[in-house]
Amino acid sequence: MVRKNDAKMNRIKLLVLLVGIAVLTACQNGVPEWYENGLRTAHVQLLEGAKEYEQSGLLPRSTTPTGKVHLGKPANWTSGFYPGNLWLMYKMTGDEELKQLASSYNSLLKGQEYNTGTHDLGFMLYCSFGNGLDETSGKDYRELLLKGAQSLISRYNPKVGAIRSWDFGEWEFPVIIDNMMNLEMLFWASKETGNSLYSNIAVRHANTTLKNHFRDNFSTYHVVSYDTISGAPVSKGTYQGFSNSSSWARGQAWALYGYTMCYRETGNKAFLKRAKEVAGFVLPQISRCDDCIPYWDFDAPGIPDVPRDASAAAIIASALLELQNYVDNSENYMNIAEKILISLSSPKYLAEEGSNNYFILKHSTGSYPHNSEVDVPLVYADYYYLEAMRRYGELRKF
Ligand code: GLY
Repeated sequence: MVRKNDAKMNRIKLLVLLVGIAVLTACQNGVPEWYENGLRTAHVQLLEGAKEYEQSGLLPRSTTPTGKVHLGKPANWTSGFYPGNLWLMYKMTGDEELKQLASSYNSLLKGQEYNTGTHDLGFMLYCSFGNGLDETSGKDYRELLLKGAQSLISRYNPKVGAIRSWDFGEWEFPVIIDNMMNLEMLFWASKETGNSLYSNIAVRHANTTLKNHFRDNFSTYHVVSYDTISGAPVSKGTYQGFSNSSSWARGQAWALYGYTMCYRETGNKAFLKRAKEVAGFVLPQISRCDDCIPYWDFDAPGIPDVPRDASAAAIIASALLELQNYVDNSENYMNIAEKILISLSSPKYLAEEGSNNYFILKHSTGSYPHNSEVDVPLVYADYYYLEAMRRYGELRKF
């Protein structure tokens, strides 16, 4: 009699064998081994993990302090990344099983489009339903995303000129740099409907952030809070970084990605200029790490003996691979992005197949000051790694 575990091992072995054959073929076609290896591991991890966790009705997020998988609720800000990972991998492989799993995980998020209590709807809905949009013929994803865009702009304050980020804490009207990422869904909504309301709000938010979130060296604060009567910023500081004057690595990554995306969507040269200025601050910081994977905060005390943040690295790689399209001297951006991807695809950061609770990457940091998710796998590190690998493959014409 074949036991369940033996059958599972045989499936994994067969998958590894098939992907191994694909690797050999790819190497003959000039695809680097590190690239093929990274994608093979990602494919195996996602297929096995998605099946393992499917019955839970929850979405993989990270690892608990005791080493177990941390499954998050659909209302969690990270909920869209897991289906997003399945969609991205499906797009790269055409594996129909991934598509079916992606749809199934997406369905857990239905209802979140009415959630007006968070600014993270862009992450939650656009990474999940947005990625599935081209792959399904149904209208429900479109309708759901448009409803999500309406919910997101309900948090916009015209006096401040920004979308409110959080509803907790002592701040009067907190806006975090991460919020730049949620604007992509608004640009999409305007293109889809012909109604400029969404993109006007996105542009206003990006302009307000451009004016108030950056220091003279183009590093970014994490949280800026505004006075809702005057619209003026009243405090600038951090929540997840080391200090109010330090540069939290993922915050810098969100800024780089956010302004690159805003330039793509608007053609506004001020956004391109800011993306390049942020890159000018970030790249020397990245280059001072032997493997181009940043420490969790660029100013963390104790460097080099502090945790890295692979998620920041993956976001930066993906952003640079887009930004290099918009500049004349793109070589440096391409080189750093490639170095990051090679590091992330090495055994130091890439999980061994079947381990790491089926996440792809190791060594990310969620919130060091709150001792939360420190040096663990994070689902959004995997998401931006896959997106960057896809962009890299397209640029190299693999
Ligand atoms: N958007 C939350 C974070 O980057 O941790």
